[in-house]
Amino acid sequence: KVIDSTVEPVCSCLKHKIVMDKELDWSHLSFGYIPTDCNVRCCFRDGKWGDIEVSQSETIDLHIAATCLHYGQEIFEGLKAFRGKDGKIRVFRLEENARRIIESAKGIMMEPVPVELFTEMVKKVVKLNERFVPPYGSGASLYIRPLEIGISAQVGVKPAKEYMFIILVTPVGPYFKEGFKPTNICVMREFDRVAPKGTGRWKVGGNYAASLEAGEKAHSLGYSAVLYLDPKEKKYIDECGPANFFAIKDGKYITPASESILPSITNKSLMQLARDMGIEVEARHIPIEELAEIEEAAACGTAAVASPVAEIDDLDTGIKYVVSKDGQPGPVTTALYNRLRAIQLGEEPDVHGWNTIID
Ligand code: PLP
Ligand code: COI
Repeated sequence: KVIDSTVEPVCSCLKHKIVMDKELDWSHLSFGYIPTDCNVRCCFRDGKWGDIEVSQSETIDLHIAATCLHYGQEIFEGLKAFRGKDGKIRVFRLEENARRIIESAKGIMMEPVPVELFTEMVKKVVKLNERFVPPYGSGASLYIRPLEIGISAQVGVKPAKEYMFIILVTPVGPYFKEGFKPTNICVMREFDRVAPKGTGRWKVGGNYAASLEAGEKAHSLGYSAVLYLDPKEKKYIDECGPANFFAIKDGKYITPASESILPSITNKSLMQLARDMGIEVEARHIPIEELAEIEEAAACGTAAVASPVAEIDDLDTGIKYVVSKDGQPGPVTTALYNRLRAIQLGEEPDVHGWNTIID
């Protein structure tokens, strides 16, 4: 026995055996996909959600005319489970994610997954894959990826009548390979990931397809992410690749208010922690020029946590906004990051009731 196992492995296929027989290098995991024991699924048919199915298969059987394949009826979520100092498993902000996927579903006319079903399925899939929750102190976590797709066969452009909701889990390390070290990001105006009144406020797969070209270009130039401007006027900061953006200016936490960004649950949590620490919070339009006056900046999200920014390069104007003069994360970003992690790991009291403990 190499991996601590409290749950009997339910899968016997060879691929899984390899993972089981070899110790995972928990503290060097990247943000990638590693097979686990099972996923959970539930289908909406004949006007109701069916039974929860536990599956050991990593594939799905899909009709070739399913709406998710043709008209992009796909939404997803991302949340994490952590092994705490006390050995307990905590899922961070489960209910907020359940509520957000309902908004995403309504946004592209899909069937909303009830909060209770979402909650039951998250608990079940984490419990069944308990041995894949990285150990306390490794810096890694179990990433939980719920997704919903339209599955009924349809050729006309209209919403499906049938839906499949799946939750898979996979152990992950940091999203940016640098971890909690400042990286450079860039502004470019040749691509928008969403439209002004489009789908940016929902977690819709198509938004990510629209971001791929810009993201690849940024990576090829050595940047960790694109800092998008508002798609209407290209005047204000929107968000940072698959994460929200915040900055510290005159000691205040400032973050964009925009209808074309995803309401990040991490950002919401950091804003609360900032207020708890006596830091003023402003959610408002942030003109790009204001980047010249900030003391700290970071990309924040479930995957990114709070990834500090060193420099923001505007590729169109040639202006370079140097945020971290010494290449180190700033003090406020560091304090917020530490506070958030401490709550997630059960090192500090969960005063806001953000964690769901998996028994
Ligand atoms: N913005 C985008 C586009 C994202 O994909 C994510 C990731 O979920 C976020 C922001 C951060 O949101 P959260 O903190 O809820 O993970
Ligand atoms: C997350 O932060 O959970 C995300 O969804 C970001 C990305 C991996 C899509």
